[in-house]
Amino acid sequence: MGADPAERQPPRPVLGTPARKLTRTLRDLRRWARLTLHDLHGLDRTLPRSTVSAVERGERRLTWQFVSSFVTVCLRANGLPPAAVRQELSRWREALDTVRSDDAPPPHGTSTTPRDTADFTGREEEVRHLAQRVAASDAAPVVLAVDGMGGVGKTALVIRLAHILGERYPDGQLFIDLQAHATGRRPVKPAEALHRLLTMLDATPAERPRRPEAWAEVWRAELRHRRLLVVLDDAAGSDQVEPLLPGRSDSLVLITSRKRLAGLHASGATAYRLDVLPHDAAAALFVRVAGADRVDARSPEVDRVIRRCGMLPLAVRLSASRLALRPTWTVTDLAEELERAEHRLDALRAENLSVRAAFDQSYRVLSTDEARMFRQLGLHPTGEFGLGEAAALAGADASHVEAVLDRLVAHNLVHEVGRRRYRLHDLVHEYAHDCAEAEEPRTERGLVPLDFGSRRGTAAAEPQVGVPK
Ligand SMILES: Nc1ncnc2c1ncn2[C@@H]1O[C@H](COP(=O)(O)OP(=O)(O)OP(=O)(O)O)[C@@H](O)[C@H]1O
Ligand SMILES: [Mg+2]
Repeated sequence: MGADPAERQPPRPVLGTPARKLTRTLRDLRRWARLTLHDLHGLDRTLPRSTVSAVERGERRLTWQFVSSFVTVCLRANGLPPAAVRQELSRWREALDTVRSDDAPPPHGTSTTPRDTADFTGREEEVRHLAQRVAASDAAPVVLAVDGMGGVGKTALVIRLAHILGERYPDGQLFIDLQAHATGRRPVKPAEALHRLLTMLDATPAERPRRPEAWAEVWRAELRHRRLLVVLDDAAGSDQVEPLLPGRSDSLVLITSRKRLAGLHASGATAYRLDVLPHDAAAALFVRVAGADRVDARSPEVDRVIRRCGMLPLAVRLSASRLALRPTWTVTDLAEELERAEHRLDALRAENLSVRAAFDQSYRVLSTDEARMFRQLGLHPTGEFGLGEAAALAGADASHVEAVLDRLVAHNLVHEVGRRRYRLHDLVHEYAHDCAEAEEPRTERGLVPLDFGSRRGTAAAEPQVGVPK
């Protein structure tokens, strides 16, 4: 080893890396430790030369037992203290938990999981956390439900997770879109979903059962002896999903929904609320889509744009592709366009994707009183408020308003930022304001925001201070 301390750093695994790369890092670690296969076996009898060389050639699957022995020997041989060894081992554990299956031997089961997002950015924390929760769970099946607002990246994250964890579910990976928020389509009925899942497994019974419960029985029986990874994407609610859950099975079910599925959680599923991207990941996504030759992630203009997008991945992607497709525009042009608020939601669209359409789909499933409350919140000046202000806007008593707000929180249209304090995502706030302008009678509009002039452009600002009715 050289004298430079940087050289003493052992090679480290990368999270979410393909199996082949992880194996290469192991071999680099052995070389860094200057150990031959023979030395290795001399130091740890559980590491025979034939096994190590088969692993290094990618001919044997990595197990934690192997990796932990291998890494420990290499690090100890280089005099690393036990605490440092433990730290390195925990990195390796995480890497092994999130190892990607794409270049591993293909599972023999079918896979209907869509391809991974090519420019998937960030979410390392979420991937690590969720993979660990799956690994640590002793439930059978493990059920994990990811909820969050439209366009926040639930499907992208769950597909990534399915690719990472897929290798552990050799009987197949099934993906089904339950269409709770698909434009012009109805949510898939449980019986139809079961039929489609069984067809994917090539396991539909010769006689089509008439009752949906009978489909569920066939499905449960099929899963009892299989180890499958099932993705139920865009679920409308617990009622739609519950009949699709296996009984006793070593399978993993990953669910996405705009709604927090309280019923499912009560019956033992793990719930995870996904938030917008952190600033740096949103900037990185913007640059990847817009093109690194056009923009610099650290520029103040990129910062302006992604802030206008509220760090929502869907909005960041759409604004970046807007720039990519307009070679004569600068990022400043884009930022200015997005700051002219009356155009912002309309600018965030491309072909069949649009932020407004995504929010429309959330809005149309609200009950009458939820929709009315939502519109009234659009009239709040900042979109961050306490229960008292919401009650004043709605002109209703606080306990009723609190109950309605709870439901809007469950729909991920409102965030509860503290006890009885709430916030609307900036784009959702703007959308709610548009709904109020379109649907609320003028006389019923409560406080027309005084500071909208700066945020939404002067056209919308017509200041009137109203007393809620
Ligand atoms: N981490 C990410 N990296 C790159 N792109 C992302 C990421 N997360 C989301 N996206 C992109 O943002 C858009 C919205 O993501 P996605 O469809 O996963 O959201 P969603 O939460 O499932 O929305 P919905 O509630 O409408 O189903 C997609 O175009 C997706 O490719
Ligand atoms: Mg989705």
